[in-house]
Amino acid sequence: MTSSGQQYTPLQIAVHLGAWFPLLRLIVEALTDDLTANPIQHIEQRTGRAAITLLFLSLAATPLNSLFGWREPIQRRRALGLYAFMYAAIHVVIFADLDYGLAWSLIAQTIFEKPYLIVGALAFILLIPLAATSFDVWKMRLKKNWKRIHSLVYFIAPLVVLHYAWGKKGDFFNFSGEVARPWAYAIVLVILMTLRISAVRRFIASIRTRVRFPFQKRTATP
Ligand code: HEM
Repeated sequence: MTSSGQQYTPLQIAVHLGAWFPLLRLIVEALTDDLTANPIQHIEQRTGRAAITLLFLSLAATPLNSLFGWREPIQRRRALGLYAFMYAAIHVVIFADLDYGLAWSLIAQTIFEKPYLIVGALAFILLIPLAATSFDVWKMRLKKNWKRIHSLVYFIAPLVVLHYAWGKKGDFFNFSGEVARPWAYAIVLVILMTLRISAVRRFIASIRTRVRFPFQKRTATP
């Protein structure tokens, strides 16, 4: 039950359980000594993937609404975004602490030597104001600027895909090496971005008036 006495919705439960699952899995693996031969890399990769997945799910909320008229994902967007930030923060802390023992000059040197880390660091820095201002009080205070700040996510998401693709062994454009997953994220990103183009949205809206999905609320007929 929520504080207002309302039931939790199935999607709300799925979002929260799904978001904690990668962390719980890592904890269980740590407790059972099952973190692979390279535990730090394993945790970095898992938390990185959880962060990008949750970020993309938050980006999918608006297209799901415009495609199917399903409004609830919009209400879950903030939780998804905050969980994405939580995993990104764990990812960065593991890198800085477990991987580099908080040796700040070595960390800075490593980041500046590897372009994929510069891109990842930029994405992380840009995520901070989004997470910090995601609450209603900031939405009211910042008014139009709130939307401006939060549209940074359309810049951050490609940066994260670039960080992912560039960090992997192989050639992204020749499709060789470990590039299948980064490609999958890149394709999903292109689809999500395309669905935001206003002409595409108008076209979908025109189709939607003719099709009714089960979760769409019926409007009362006079
Ligand atoms: C200061 C910022 C960041 C640093 C230093 C950093 C560091 C790293 C490192 C070292 C790896 C490679 C792990 C390995 O395979 O050995 C990695 C991979 C990755 N990172 Fe980051 N990262 C940062 C920001 C981010 C952010 C903001 C996201 C997502 C929102 C992210 C998502 C990922 C993903 C998806 C991977 C690939 C995981 C895989 O190989 O399956 N990173 N990062």
